[in-house]
Amino acid sequence: MTVPIVRVGVLGAGFVGAELIRLLGDPSRHVALVDAATADVQVVGVAVRDRDKARAGVAPSLITDDASALLASDLDIVVEVMGGLDPTRGYIEAALSRGVSVVTANKALIAECGTELARLAHENRADLFYEAAVGGAIPILRALRTSLAGERIERVMGIVNGTTNFILSEMTSAGSDYADALAQAQALGYAESDPRADVEGFDAAAKVQILSSLAYGTELTGEPILREGITGVRAVDVEFAHRSGYVIKLLGVAERVDGGISRRVHPAMVPVDHPLAAVHGAMNAVFVEGAASGPLMWLGQGAGGRPTATAVLGDVMHAARNRVSGRHDVPFSVDGTLTTVEPGDLSSVYYLSLDVLDEPGVLASVAGVFGRHHVSIQSMEQSGFGDEARLSFVTHVALTRDVWATLDELAQLTSVDSIGACVRVIEGGRA
Ligand SMILES: NC(=O)c1ccc[n+]([C@@H]2O[C@H](COP(=O)([O-])OP(=O)(O)OC[C@H]3O[C@@H](n4cnc5c(N)ncnc54)[C@H](OP(=O)(O)O)[C@@H]3O)[C@@H](O)[C@H]2O)c1
Repeated sequence: MTVPIVRVGVLGAGFVGAELIRLLGDPSRHVALVDAATADVQVVGVAVRDRDKARAGVAPSLITDDASALLASDLDIVVEVMGGLDPTRGYIEAALSRGVSVVTANKALIAECGTELARLAHENRADLFYEAAVGGAIPILRALRTSLAGERIERVMGIVNGTTNFILSEMTSAGSDYADALAQAQALGYAESDPRADVEGFDAAAKVQILSSLAYGTELTGEPILREGITGVRAVDVEFAHRSGYVIKLLGVAERVDGGISRRVHPAMVPVDHPLAAVHGAMNAVFVEGAASGPLMWLGQGAGGRPTATAVLGDVMHAARNRVSGRHDVPFSVDGTLTTVEPGDLSSVYYLSLDVLDEPGVLASVAGVFGRHHVSIQSMEQSGFGDEARLSFVTHVALTRDVWATLDELAQLTSVDSIGACVRVIEGGRA
């Protein structure tokens, strides 16, 4: 029997691309690949920037620095693992317009224009898959798309950025300050030399957009969402959380609230008995609460060339199967009835810490500001002396816009040196 050949062009042979090519060429997987897809999946070209760079496991004859020529050749599937928005978007559009299926790991691009690209894929009877864009090896997108397709999802909460989880885990286990934990993450290769995309929450925000599109049918058009990073979290906050039975995690959240949807990224105090509290180091996890399914959680390596390449490979096999059977997956549907709830209209319990002058009357003036903005205090702790004097508060459930107004007024007080962390506290399962 002749096995149909599925021709794959790969854009990029870096951490992910090179591992994908090695996995596809692994003879111990070959039978599985052929049988699973009833096709012989062959890499026919690999586009890179620098064709002279040594690349173990990638045949030099496949390498080209002319991505456009590769895209114009006879291909069934394009794998985009080069990253960035430009010229990447144009390359993907060119492939989809010709009816060539696309597999990508590019969360930033999908969050920016995923809806448009999915439409283009559908119009041209091609697939657009991006499992590796969220949670590396964790197969969460396919689970939302298939197994949970009929479920009413109440909430998706994820630790979807390994760099920030590593930093916060170090701060928790070793008592390190933020700067030391970041330096260690950089030394170990978990953080970039410019870490802003991770520590300021941009990377997690793109992943929340993608999770939300599948859980709730929200569009992927680059619309910004509430994003607070971890740069304001200090060792004293982590230690306060620990003493109170919590750990601080950077969470990406998409949830139903009052007939609408809230999507956001922020640090949160997670109770130690919550499954997400046990996700340490650079691991990722996605916690989903369905109305009928109850709680579910996926845990795994959210980055790294080889783990990420397995998710890309799964998409390639799915696209290859569709190709051979002449089908393509229908893209996720957009639900225009769900409006975005203003972040200021959300309510949460908050932990706030302030560096204050060590003098009489400070507590009364600070408490007065909370009262004026209807933010009721659940507990308060005074610590340190002199330059180290600090006030830490946990509020009752408060409107976020009232907490923001409280912080604005506190920042004007001469008795407040600086405002430290402002962290939502998970209570009753939500932050
Ligand atoms: N690394 C991870 O753990 C991980 C996890 C999840 C998702 N992702 C996503 O996967 C994608 C790839 O990540 P990566 O870590 O593998 O990146 P990488 O190591 O930087 O590799 C990028 C590759 O793309 C090539 N490239 C870049 N610009 C190009 C251009 N204009 N034309 C042709 N080739 C170009 C580079 O060529 P040269 O080799 O010649 O420089 C390199 O081979 C990104 O979208 C990333 O967000 C990565």
